[in-house]
Amino acid sequence: QEPNSDYNLATPITTTSGLRQGLTSYGDAHFSLFLRKVFIKALGYSEDALSRPIVGIINTFSGFNPCHANVPQLIEAAKRGVQLNGGLAVEFPTISVHESFSHPTSMFLRNLMSMDTEEMIKAQPLDACIMIGGVYILFMLPWLLFSSRRRDIFDLPKYSLTFLGCDKTVPAQLMGGISANKPILPLITGPMLPGSHRGKRIGACTDCRNNWAAFRAGEIDVEEISAINEELAPTIGTCGVMGTASTMACVTAALGMMPLRGASAPAVSSARIRIAEETGANAVAVAKASRKPQEFLTKESFLNAITVLQAIGGSTNAVVHLLAIANRHPQLQGVITLETFEEIGRKTPLLIDLKPSGDNYMNDFHNVGGMLALLQVLRPLLHLSAKTVTGQTLGEILDAARSRMLSFEQNIIRPLSDPLFPSSSLAVLHGNLAPNGAVIKASASKYRHLLTHTGPAVVFENSADLALRIDNPALEVTKDSVLVLKGIGPIGNPGMPEAGLIPIPRKLAATGVKDMLRLSDGRMSGTAGGTIVLHISPEAAVPRSPFGIVETGDLITCDIENRLLHLDVSDEVLQSRISQRKNALEAEAGPAQARKKKRGYRGLYERSVNQAHEGTDFDFLSAAGPGGSD
Ligand code: FES
Ligand code: MG
Repeated sequence: QEPNSDYNLATPITTTSGLRQGLTSYGDAHFSLFLRKVFIKALGYSEDALSRPIVGIINTFSGFNPCHANVPQLIEAAKRGVQLNGGLAVEFPTISVHESFSHPTSMFLRNLMSMDTEEMIKAQPLDACIMIGGVYILFMLPWLLFSSRRRDIFDLPKYSLTFLGCDKTVPAQLMGGISANKPILPLITGPMLPGSHRGKRIGACTDCRNNWAAFRAGEIDVEEISAINEELAPTIGTCGVMGTASTMACVTAALGMMPLRGASAPAVSSARIRIAEETGANAVAVAKASRKPQEFLTKESFLNAITVLQAIGGSTNAVVHLLAIANRHPQLQGVITLETFEEIGRKTPLLIDLKPSGDNYMNDFHNVGGMLALLQVLRPLLHLSAKTVTGQTLGEILDAARSRMLSFEQNIIRPLSDPLFPSSSLAVLHGNLAPNGAVIKASASKYRHLLTHTGPAVVFENSADLALRIDNPALEVTKDSVLVLKGIGPIGNPGMPEAGLIPIPRKLAATGVKDMLRLSDGRMSGTAGGTIVLHISPEAAVPRSPFGIVETGDLITCDIENRLLHLDVSDEVLQSRISQRKNALEAEAGPAQARKKKRGYRGLYERSVNQAHEGTDFDFLSAAGPGGSD
């Protein structure tokens, strides 16, 4: 194709015929070209430069975003890669969303960022686009500490719920980029390195939670938790465990959208910079071939991505993101469902020994070969004919790198014959409590017996209710109770906060209880662990939601073998409670009425967001939405 052909920028203004009529927003095509040349030349570009493939580079740097602190270096290297290969690199900004500094949650802003990304890719004269992004994982501790005086630390947990959120840049960029359907090349910022405390490695953010839980239980004091706070994020980059950031990086590589080692190279490594240069080089080739995501991404690409998700014990958030991403693709809309995750999970073992399911950090994974080594092991389970962004198939890439197969002693990537967890690290539950599904990261359960458990519910109606009562010594709760948190679903608490990791009531924590069966319609950070059922759909805020009618004392069963989430009340009681609640909601003129009147992005969000099993995208953005395939 001609570089930036719709804009005609490669065409000299002396040309008077043969112009494409695509973008004639200033009148005739010739005058439109003339005017655009005026302004692009103000930037100093020559006709020669403009005759090259133009590669846009999305700059998501922000002074509030430590996960993206290396973006300026990556841009420089990506530009070098573009320009050494005959392209013209032009950077431009989109919004930058950091986990901890995106009130109310970063998930609230994911769809906004996807719209920004889609529209700016469509709007500008670029032939391919490098999307530089990290993915953010919950990192609440620094926020808590510097937002308050140290000595107030014991008062803080009640505020924490409103700040929880997660990991949105790469999902947002993939959603936007696939919808824009111009050639796109994700470039990940990379994970941080682990820190050290008293001779032990620690890293964001699994160890944020473990240590915070120890602090709540009185096992460590305020001086020690403060010292730990200094070390949890010792370098820039995304969280260094298999949280959502690392999960989405691995999944994006498995989709065939970036170099395989680009998933794990540390943010502060020279390897990371070379990957940026390589991405620049790839972008020129992809621009020339005009290889668009809707053309090379197929169902098989997503099956590979989900296989990897299961094999790495990836974040539950990736389920929501992958559903949203697939639903942007007109041929895959509705093809990838929760059932797909469940089916693949049943035949895929967990092979990676990384936190939170295992013990190690992302740089350990990188050091033993990262995704390239993992995919060699997973080979029998993959669709090797899936195309990648470079035009090669996944099988061709793996064949070319056979020499990098694991041929040395290591304990990070297990063989298929000796997995860390036999199958279904992520499992999908159904039942009268979750007719449209729920998700559990079974491999991260601390007390495995809780995966099959029946207990009485202790219900919290929303985050505020939880904050008020969870540590009340009078709360009637035992280690066998099932903690239920409603009202943190996509509509109920816009952004679906990562509050699903309901804290163990302090009085139980103090006796050594480290895990309980916990249920919510929200999310949890990919770095967190426990027996936590998430994403219950439909969420409690939906008037007919069975989850909305659970009462304290009801018996709830989680049965992992049968993938069951069951509320032990009769159908009649269930239906009558649902009707009563629906009528009550309507009688009070209802939240739905209030939503209609809300202004701004928040109003748009609440009116348009779909449920977790659909990806919590806006209904009008998914490929099934009105005009979705344009
Ligand atoms: Fe950015 Fe964890 S806060 S990846
Ligand atoms: Mg996260």
